[in-house]
Amino acid sequence: MSEISDQTTSSDDNKNEKKLKFYHLSEDYWAKQPPTVNGMLGGFDYVSKADIDQSQSFLGSFLNNKSVSKYHIGETKLAIDCGAGIGRITKNLLLKNFDYVEMVDVTEGFISEAKNYIGQEDSKRIAKFHVCGLQNFYPEVSKYDCIWIQWVLGYLTDSDLVDFLKRCKLALKPNGICFIKENLSKDEREFDEEDSSYTRTKQEYVNIIHKAGMHLIKDEKQRNFPKELYEVRLFAFK
Ligand SMILES: C[S@@+](CC[C@H](N)C(=O)[O-])C[C@H]1O[C@@H](n2cnc3c(N)ncnc32)[C@H](O)[C@@H]1O
Repeated sequence: MSEISDQTTSSDDNKNEKKLKFYHLSEDYWAKQPPTVNGMLGGFDYVSKADIDQSQSFLGSFLNNKSVSKYHIGETKLAIDCGAGIGRITKNLLLKNFDYVEMVDVTEGFISEAKNYIGQEDSKRIAKFHVCGLQNFYPEVSKYDCIWIQWVLGYLTDSDLVDFLKRCKLALKPNGICFIKENLSKDEREFDEEDSSYTRTKQEYVNIIHKAGMHLIKDEKQRNFPKELYEVRLFAFK
């Protein structure tokens, strides 16, 4: 399936309808999934530890003062978890590295389960819960030390994704860094009709990052994942 255009001329009513359908289908899909780690990971909850462990060392390489990289996350005050679900990443990664975390997700039922899942004490450090699609989310300018976006970008059209990343660029503090962690297809993008999502290639993500006016700092393949799953890759950029 080809990318759905975001053009809005009258002759493109059909395309607009397709785009609305594209978003509604994934919203309906997620509204029916259980608010659990297994629900977030499509039945693969056992990959969560390997996922978080590698994310911790990848993120840590930008926090460690001994790193030779010129890119350091200046402060560790505030991160935002985009497509956060019930807060699996917020709880196990972001709250361990940042004082406060904001969460944004389109599925209300996941956001309302977050406090329960994260726990009473730690959820006091959730600075804000946003129930919103990323395609409609306008983060505040110069606010975040870290923007983490994982396993959600397949639900956005290319042009909505480029626009969202442009807003992320503005939302970073001067020393802030943006992270994407996504499934990758090998040769060409794939479309999954069940949850209305694209699996893009690595090159497509790199092109999208550049189109948004940002540059890639580092990327790394996820290790120790089951062979039957897509390649998963971390990207750091700003
Ligand atoms: C595979 S889960 C990943 C959740 C979380 N990132 C994690 O790794 O545990 C996908 C999440 O994306 C959310 N989602 C789907 N479409 C979205 C959109 N357009 N904007 C924001 N969130 C969306 C779903 O509600 C769900 O919480």
